[in-house]
Amino acid sequence: MSNHQIYILTAVCFIANLVSAVAVAQESENFDAEAKYQATCFACHGTGQAHAPVVGDIIEWEIRLEKGFNTLVQSTINGLNGMMPARGLCADCTDDDLKAIVQFMLEESQ
Ligand code: HEC
Repeated sequence: MSNHQIYILTAVCFIANLVSAVAVAQESENFDAEAKYQATCFACHGTGQAHAPVVGDIIEWEIRLEKGFNTLVQSTINGLNGMMPARGLCADCTDDDLKAIVQFMLEESQ
């Protein structure tokens, strides 16, 4: 292999590393479900305000999860019984964001 070829190979590797580093940086900028939960849902679900099921109450969430994860996400999007406000009052949450928060709430209640 000539020096010239080695130089090109090194350059290609360098660029490949750079590309994967950028990809990792983008991934870590993902939606922060915990921060959003604290900012919006915690007002009710951290305190039991309006009889909201409290995050960390294992039995409560076990019973709710019997409806299925997707049903819980749907109740979050649409609201429930006039008590749980639609989208949990998170105006800038997408459906996927809400799903991630529900996932977080369940993980905290196992
Ligand atoms: C104003 C208070 C309030 C806020 C804010 C709120 N919730 Fe709720 N949530 C409730 C109440 C009350 C219930 C219970 C409703 C019922 O079972 O009748 C509930 C129920 C739920 C349930 C269970 C649904 C089911 O089908 O059993 C989920 C999941 C949920 N909330 C997610 C969220 C998420 C995610 C947020 C924030 C984005 C949020 N909530 C914000 C009051 C609130």
